[in-house]
Amino acid sequence: MVKIQRVPLAYNTEPPTGRLASAYDVGREVSQAVDQRQQRIRQYGLDPLFSLPDANWHETAPNDYINAYHMLSRLDWPTLRFLRLRAQPFTGYNMLYLRNGAGFSCTDPIPPNIDNFQPDQPENEVIVRWKAFTATMPERLIYRAPLMLGERGWLVDGDFVNNDIVTYQERMALMATGGVFEHLDRVETPRIIEIGGGYGALAYAIMSAYPNAEYWICDLPESLMFSGLYLSMVQDWPVRVTQAGCEAKRGINLLPNYYFPFLGQPFDLAINTLSMSEMSVHQVGIYGAGLARLLRDRNGLFFEQNQDNRQMGLCYSKDHMGQFFSRRRTLETSLPISNGIADIWSN
Ligand SMILES: C[S@@+](CC[C@H](N)C(=O)[O-])C[C@H]1O[C@@H](n2cnc3c(N)ncnc32)[C@H](O)[C@@H]1O
Repeated sequence: MVKIQRVPLAYNTEPPTGRLASAYDVGREVSQAVDQRQQRIRQYGLDPLFSLPDANWHETAPNDYINAYHMLSRLDWPTLRFLRLRAQPFTGYNMLYLRNGAGFSCTDPIPPNIDNFQPDQPENEVIVRWKAFTATMPERLIYRAPLMLGERGWLVDGDFVNNDIVTYQERMALMATGGVFEHLDRVETPRIIEIGGGYGALAYAIMSAYPNAEYWICDLPESLMFSGLYLSMVQDWPVRVTQAGCEAKRGINLLPNYYFPFLGQPFDLAINTLSMSEMSVHQVGIYGAGLARLLRDRNGLFFEQNQDNRQMGLCYSKDHMGQFFSRRRTLETSLPISNGIADIWSN
Protein backbone atom coordinates (compact mmCIF):
# COMPACT_ATOMS: atom_id res chain seq x y z
CA MET A 1 0.00 0.00 0.00
CA VAL A 2 1.59 3.29 -1.16
CA LYS A 3 1.35 6.18 1.33
CA ILE A 4 0.49 9.48 -0.35
CA GLN A 5 0.35 12.98 1.07
CA ARG A 6 -0.31 16.25 -0.74
CA VAL A 7 2.46 18.86 -0.76
CA PRO A 8 0.68 22.17 -1.44
CA LEU A 9 2.26 25.51 -2.34
CA ALA A 10 2.16 26.64 1.29
CA TYR A 11 4.94 24.15 2.09
CA ASN A 12 7.42 26.10 -0.06
CA THR A 13 10.37 27.68 1.70
CA GLU A 14 11.97 30.97 0.65
CA PRO A 15 15.61 31.44 -0.37
CA PRO A 16 17.80 33.37 2.06
CA THR A 17 18.31 37.07 1.19
CA GLY A 18 21.91 36.52 0.04
CA ARG A 19 20.84 34.02 -2.60
CA LEU A 20 18.13 36.35 -3.82
CA ALA A 21 20.68 39.15 -4.27
CA SER A 22 22.94 36.80 -6.29
CA ALA A 23 19.96 35.74 -8.40
CA TYR A 24 19.18 39.36 -9.26
CA ASP A 25 22.81 39.88 -10.34
CA VAL A 26 22.68 36.78 -12.54
CA GLY A 27 19.31 37.90 -13.96
CA ARG A 28 20.70 41.32 -14.91
CA GLU A 29 23.68 39.72 -16.68
CA VAL A 30 21.43 37.32 -18.55
CA SER A 31 19.23 40.23 -19.70
CA GLN A 32 22.35 41.87 -21.08
CA ALA A 33 23.24 38.65 -22.92
CA VAL A 34 19.83 38.85 -24.65
CA ASP A 35 19.99 42.58 -25.33
CA GLN A 36 23.56 42.50 -26.66
CA ARG A 37 23.17 39.38 -28.82
CA GLN A 38 22.95 41.21 -32.18
CA GLN A 39 25.88 43.40 -31.22
CA ARG A 40 28.01 40.35 -30.27
CA ILE A 41 27.06 38.59 -33.51
CA ARG A 42 28.43 41.57 -35.44
CA GLN A 43 31.43 42.13 -33.14
CA TYR A 44 32.67 38.51 -33.34
CA GLY A 45 31.41 37.71 -36.82
CA LEU A 46 29.16 34.94 -35.44
CA ASP A 47 26.82 32.85 -37.59
CA PRO A 48 23.32 34.31 -37.09
CA LEU A 49 21.64 31.07 -38.20
CA PHE A 50 23.35 29.29 -35.33
CA SER A 51 23.23 32.12 -32.80
CA LEU A 52 19.60 33.19 -33.02
CA PRO A 53 16.72 31.06 -31.70
CA ASP A 54 15.38 28.83 -34.46
CA ALA A 55 12.93 25.99 -35.22
CA ASN A 56 10.71 25.42 -32.15
CA TRP A 57 12.41 28.36 -30.40
CA HIS A 58 12.17 30.80 -33.30
CA GLU A 59 10.28 33.98 -32.39
CA THR A 60 7.44 32.97 -34.70
CA ALA A 61 7.11 29.40 -33.31
CA PRO A 62 4.09 28.42 -31.18
CA ASN A 63 6.15 28.64 -27.99
CA ASP A 64 5.50 31.33 -25.40
CA TYR A 65 8.83 31.12 -23.57
CA ILE A 66 9.61 34.71 -24.62
CA ASN A 67 6.61 35.93 -22.63
CA ALA A 68 7.78 34.08 -19.54
CA TYR A 69 11.29 35.43 -20.11
CA HIS A 70 9.92 39.00 -20.08
CA MET A 71 7.93 38.23 -16.97
CA LEU A 72 10.94 36.86 -15.05
CA SER A 73 13.20 39.68 -16.28
CA ARG A 74 11.31 42.04 -14.00
CA LEU A 75 13.43 40.46 -11.26
CA ASP A 76 10.95 40.99 -8.46
CA TRP A 77 10.21 38.48 -5.72
CA PRO A 78 6.41 38.29 -6.27
CA THR A 79 7.21 36.96 -9.77
CA LEU A 80 10.28 34.88 -8.98
CA ARG A 81 8.64 33.03 -6.12
CA PHE A 82 6.50 31.25 -8.72
CA LEU A 83 9.26 30.57 -11.26
CA ARG A 84 8.40 26.87 -11.42
CA LEU A 85 4.83 27.69 -12.44
CA ARG A 86 6.32 29.44 -15.50
CA ALA A 87 8.55 26.58 -16.68
CA GLN A 88 6.02 24.80 -18.92
CA PRO A 89 7.93 25.55 -22.19
CA PHE A 90 10.71 23.23 -21.00
CA THR A 91 8.77 20.20 -19.81
CA GLY A 92 5.40 20.56 -21.49
CA TYR A 93 3.79 20.18 -18.06
CA ASN A 94 1.65 22.88 -16.47
CA MET A 95 2.61 23.20 -12.80
CA LEU A 96 -0.20 25.64 -12.15
CA TYR A 97 -2.89 23.05 -12.77
CA LEU A 98 -0.64 19.97 -12.45
CA ARG A 99 -1.53 18.55 -15.83
CA ASN A 100 -0.32 18.39 -19.45
CA GLY A 101 0.37 21.92 -20.68
CA ALA A 102 -1.68 21.71 -23.92
CA GLY A 103 -4.06 24.68 -24.03
CA PHE A 104 -2.37 26.55 -21.18
CA SER A 105 0.05 29.47 -21.33
CA CYS A 106 3.09 29.65 -19.09
CA THR A 107 2.09 33.18 -18.17
CA ASP A 108 -1.49 32.39 -17.14
CA PRO A 109 -2.53 34.30 -14.01
CA ILE A 110 -2.22 32.39 -10.74
CA PRO A 111 -5.67 31.93 -9.19
CA PRO A 112 -5.89 32.76 -5.46
CA ASN A 113 -7.22 29.28 -4.64
CA ILE A 114 -4.48 27.49 -6.58
CA ASP A 115 -4.26 24.58 -4.13
CA ASN A 116 -7.87 23.65 -4.92
CA PHE A 117 -6.62 22.56 -8.34
CA GLN A 118 -4.28 19.99 -6.86
CA PRO A 119 -5.69 16.45 -6.79
CA ASP A 120 -5.23 14.39 -3.62
CA GLN A 121 -2.87 12.06 -5.42
CA PRO A 122 -0.76 12.01 -8.59
CA GLU A 123 -1.65 9.99 -11.66
CA ASN A 124 -0.80 6.34 -11.09
CA GLU A 125 1.76 6.51 -13.88
CA VAL A 126 3.79 9.07 -11.89
CA ILE A 127 4.03 6.65 -8.97
CA VAL A 128 4.87 3.65 -11.13
CA ARG A 129 7.59 5.50 -13.01
CA TRP A 130 9.11 7.05 -9.88
CA LYS A 131 9.33 3.64 -8.22
CA ALA A 132 10.94 2.15 -11.34
CA PHE A 133 13.45 4.98 -11.79
CA THR A 134 14.59 4.93 -8.17
CA ALA A 135 14.39 1.22 -7.28
CA THR A 136 18.07 0.45 -7.75
CA MET A 137 19.53 3.94 -7.63
CA PRO A 138 21.89 4.99 -4.86
CA GLU A 139 20.53 7.88 -2.81
CA ARG A 140 23.00 10.41 -4.25
CA LEU A 141 21.58 9.78 -7.75
CA ILE A 142 17.98 10.37 -6.76
CA TYR A 143 16.66 13.78 -7.71
CA ARG A 144 15.46 15.52 -4.55
CA ALA A 145 13.78 18.62 -5.95
CA PRO A 146 13.91 21.71 -3.73
CA LEU A 147 10.48 22.56 -2.36
CA MET A 148 10.76 26.17 -3.50
CA LEU A 149 9.64 28.66 -6.15
CA GLY A 150 6.21 27.14 -6.76
CA GLU A 151 7.22 23.46 -6.77
CA ARG A 152 4.50 21.21 -5.40
CA GLY A 153 3.27 17.69 -5.73
CA TRP A 154 2.94 14.73 -3.41
CA LEU A 155 4.93 12.70 -0.95
CA VAL A 156 4.88 9.13 -2.21
CA ASP A 157 6.14 6.84 0.53
CA GLY A 158 8.04 9.87 1.81
CA ASP A 159 9.56 10.90 -1.58
CA PHE A 160 8.54 14.29 -2.99
CA VAL A 161 7.36 13.79 -6.59
CA ASN A 162 5.44 15.39 -9.40
CA ASN A 163 5.45 14.83 -13.16
CA ASP A 164 8.55 16.98 -13.80
CA ILE A 165 10.53 15.41 -10.96
CA VAL A 166 9.83 11.95 -12.37
CA THR A 167 10.83 13.12 -15.85
CA TYR A 168 14.25 14.29 -14.62
CA GLN A 169 14.69 11.11 -12.60
CA GLU A 170 14.11 9.25 -15.86
CA ARG A 171 17.21 10.99 -17.26
CA MET A 172 19.20 10.07 -14.13
CA ALA A 173 18.11 6.43 -14.38
CA LEU A 174 19.04 6.27 -18.06
CA MET A 175 22.45 7.81 -17.41
CA ALA A 176 23.03 5.26 -14.65
CA THR A 177 22.01 2.45 -17.02
CA GLY A 178 24.52 3.69 -19.56
CA GLY A 179 27.42 3.85 -17.09
CA VAL A 180 27.65 7.64 -17.30
CA PHE A 181 28.11 8.07 -13.55
CA GLU A 182 30.82 5.39 -13.40
CA HIS A 183 32.59 7.40 -16.09
CA LEU A 184 32.29 10.61 -14.01
CA ASP A 185 33.40 8.80 -10.84
CA ARG A 186 36.82 8.27 -12.44
CA VAL A 187 37.40 12.04 -12.73
CA GLU A 188 38.28 14.33 -9.82
CA THR A 189 36.66 17.48 -11.20
CA PRO A 190 34.23 16.41 -13.91
CA ARG A 191 33.66 18.92 -16.66
CA ILE A 192 30.10 18.61 -17.90
CA ILE A 193 28.25 20.57 -20.57
CA GLU A 194 24.50 20.46 -21.02
CA ILE A 195 23.10 21.93 -24.21
CA GLY A 196 19.60 23.28 -23.58
CA GLY A 197 19.31 23.02 -19.82
CA GLY A 198 15.67 24.09 -19.42
CA TYR A 199 15.05 25.53 -15.94
CA GLY A 200 18.11 23.78 -14.48
CA ALA A 201 16.61 20.67 -12.89
CA LEU A 202 19.06 18.16 -14.36
CA ALA A 203 21.98 20.44 -13.51
CA TYR A 204 20.71 20.50 -9.93
CA ALA A 205 20.35 16.71 -9.78
CA ILE A 206 23.83 16.08 -11.21
CA MET A 207 25.55 18.80 -9.19
CA SER A 208 24.01 17.31 -6.03
CA ALA A 209 25.90 14.10 -6.82
CA TYR A 210 29.06 15.86 -8.09
CA PRO A 211 29.34 19.13 -6.15
CA ASN A 212 32.98 19.41 -7.31
CA ALA A 213 32.00 19.52 -10.94
CA GLU A 214 32.31 22.33 -13.44
CA TYR A 215 28.85 22.34 -14.99
CA TRP A 216 28.15 24.36 -18.09
CA ILE A 217 24.67 25.11 -19.35
CA CYS A 218 24.76 26.31 -22.95
CA ASP A 219 21.36 27.69 -23.82
CA LEU A 220 19.49 30.53 -25.45
CA PRO A 221 20.01 33.44 -23.08
CA GLU A 222 16.23 33.79 -22.68
CA SER A 223 16.20 30.28 -21.20
CA LEU A 224 19.30 30.95 -19.11
CA MET A 225 17.07 33.44 -17.29
CA PHE A 226 15.16 30.42 -15.92
CA SER A 227 18.11 28.17 -15.11
CA GLY A 228 20.25 31.07 -13.85
CA LEU A 229 17.59 32.38 -11.46
CA TYR A 230 16.47 28.91 -10.40
CA LEU A 231 19.94 27.58 -9.64
CA SER A 232 20.93 30.81 -7.86
CA MET A 233 17.91 30.64 -5.58
CA VAL A 234 17.65 26.95 -4.66
CA GLN A 235 21.26 26.20 -3.72
CA ASP A 236 24.64 27.70 -2.84
CA TRP A 237 27.05 26.63 -5.62
CA PRO A 238 28.38 29.65 -7.48
CA VAL A 239 26.38 30.53 -10.60
CA ARG A 240 27.92 32.85 -13.17
CA VAL A 241 27.20 34.08 -16.67
CA THR A 242 30.12 33.33 -18.96
CA GLN A 243 31.43 35.75 -21.55
CA ALA A 244 33.23 35.12 -24.84
CA GLY A 245 36.45 34.10 -23.02
CA CYS A 246 34.70 30.98 -21.60
CA GLU A 247 36.83 31.02 -18.41
CA ALA A 248 36.59 27.66 -16.62
CA LYS A 249 35.40 27.60 -12.99
CA ARG A 250 33.76 25.12 -10.63
CA GLY A 251 30.05 25.51 -10.04
CA ILE A 252 27.47 26.48 -12.62
CA ASN A 253 28.60 28.32 -15.75
CA LEU A 254 25.85 29.77 -17.92
CA LEU A 255 26.97 30.05 -21.52
CA PRO A 256 24.84 32.04 -23.98
CA ASN A 257 24.53 29.68 -26.95
CA TYR A 258 26.17 32.09 -29.39
CA TYR A 259 29.50 31.68 -27.55
CA PHE A 260 29.50 27.88 -27.98
CA PRO A 261 32.02 28.00 -30.90
CA PHE A 262 34.49 29.71 -28.52
CA LEU A 263 34.65 26.76 -26.10
CA GLY A 264 38.08 25.16 -26.18
CA GLN A 265 38.64 23.16 -23.01
CA PRO A 266 37.79 19.46 -23.12
CA PHE A 267 34.73 17.97 -21.41
CA ASP A 268 34.11 14.57 -19.79
CA LEU A 269 30.40 14.54 -20.47
CA ALA A 270 27.97 16.35 -22.75
CA ILE A 271 24.22 16.10 -22.29
CA ASN A 272 21.29 16.98 -24.46
CA THR A 273 17.77 15.97 -23.57
CA LEU A 274 14.64 16.81 -25.50
CA SER A 275 16.11 19.81 -27.21
CA MET A 276 18.26 19.06 -30.26
CA SER A 277 15.17 17.75 -32.04
CA GLU A 278 13.66 21.21 -31.36
CA MET A 279 16.54 23.03 -33.08
CA SER A 280 17.33 23.58 -36.75
CA VAL A 281 19.44 20.95 -38.54
CA HIS A 282 22.10 23.64 -38.99
CA GLN A 283 22.28 24.20 -35.21
CA VAL A 284 22.33 20.45 -34.51
CA GLY A 285 25.25 20.07 -36.94
CA ILE A 286 27.31 22.78 -35.26
CA TYR A 287 26.67 21.28 -31.82
CA GLY A 288 27.47 17.77 -33.07
CA ALA A 289 30.79 18.81 -34.63
CA GLY A 290 31.67 21.00 -31.65
CA LEU A 291 30.88 18.34 -29.05
CA ALA A 292 32.90 15.70 -30.91
CA ARG A 293 35.86 18.11 -30.79
CA LEU A 294 35.36 19.05 -27.10
CA LEU A 295 34.96 15.44 -25.90
CA ARG A 296 37.84 13.91 -27.83
CA ASP A 297 40.77 14.60 -25.47
CA ARG A 298 39.09 13.20 -22.35
CA ASN A 299 37.39 10.19 -23.93
CA GLY A 300 34.20 12.04 -23.17
CA LEU A 301 30.66 10.75 -23.63
CA PHE A 302 27.66 12.44 -25.17
CA PHE A 303 24.44 11.34 -23.46
CA GLU A 304 21.43 12.30 -25.48
CA GLN A 305 17.70 11.60 -25.30
CA ASN A 306 15.55 13.04 -28.03
CA GLN A 307 12.26 12.35 -29.73
CA ASP A 308 11.62 12.14 -33.46
CA ASN A 309 9.92 15.50 -34.12
CA ARG A 310 9.70 15.28 -37.92
CA GLN A 311 5.91 14.92 -37.87
CA MET A 312 5.83 18.39 -36.25
CA GLY A 313 7.92 19.89 -39.06
CA LEU A 314 11.04 19.77 -36.88
CA CYS A 315 13.94 17.29 -37.06
CA TYR A 316 15.16 14.02 -35.53
CA SER A 317 18.54 15.05 -34.20
CA LYS A 318 19.84 11.46 -34.04
CA ASP A 319 19.75 11.30 -37.85
CA HIS A 320 22.43 14.01 -37.90
CA MET A 321 24.79 12.79 -35.17
CA GLY A 322 26.39 9.73 -36.79
CA GLN A 323 28.67 11.86 -38.98
CA PHE A 324 30.43 13.26 -35.90
CA PHE A 325 30.75 10.19 -33.67
CA SER A 326 32.13 6.78 -34.55
CA ARG A 327 30.33 4.95 -31.74
CA ARG A 328 26.63 4.94 -30.90
CA ARG A 329 25.30 2.93 -27.98
CA THR A 330 21.50 2.89 -27.80
CA LEU A 331 20.41 2.24 -24.23
CA GLU A 332 18.31 -0.89 -24.04
CA THR A 333 16.24 -0.84 -20.90
CA SER A 334 13.12 -2.30 -19.34
CA LEU A 335 12.51 1.02 -17.53
CA PRO A 336 9.15 2.67 -18.37
CA ILE A 337 10.75 5.56 -20.29
CA SER A 338 8.42 8.01 -22.01
CA ASN A 339 10.68 10.70 -23.40
CA GLY A 340 12.33 9.03 -26.36
CA ILE A 341 15.29 6.80 -27.08
CA ALA A 342 18.53 7.52 -25.22
CA ASP A 343 21.95 7.11 -26.84
CA ILE A 344 25.52 7.50 -25.75
CA TRP A 345 27.80 8.77 -28.52
CA SER A 346 31.58 8.72 -28.39
CA ASN A 347 34.70 8.50 -30.50
C1 LIG B 1 12.07 21.29 -24.42
S1 LIG B 1 13.34 22.14 -23.57
C2 LIG B 1 14.16 20.80 -22.78
C3 LIG B 1 14.82 21.22 -21.52
C4 LIG B 1 15.55 20.10 -20.76
N1 LIG B 1 16.72 19.68 -21.46
C5 LIG B 1 14.65 18.92 -20.51
O1 LIG B 1 15.02 17.81 -20.90
O2 LIG B 1 13.59 19.08 -19.90
C6 LIG B 1 14.47 22.59 -24.87
C7 LIG B 1 15.70 23.35 -24.42
O3 LIG B 1 16.54 23.59 -25.57
C8 LIG B 1 16.97 24.92 -25.52
N2 LIG B 1 17.37 25.39 -26.86
C9 LIG B 1 16.60 25.69 -27.93
N3 LIG B 1 17.36 26.14 -28.94
C10 LIG B 1 18.65 26.12 -28.51
C11 LIG B 1 19.90 26.46 -29.09
N4 LIG B 1 19.97 26.91 -30.32
N5 LIG B 1 21.02 26.28 -28.36
C12 LIG B 1 20.95 25.81 -27.09
N6 LIG B 1 19.79 25.48 -26.48
C13 LIG B 1 18.66 25.64 -27.18
C14 LIG B 1 15.77 25.65 -24.96
O4 LIG B 1 16.09 26.93 -24.55
C15 LIG B 1 15.42 24.70 -23.81
O5 LIG B 1 16.22 24.93 -22.69
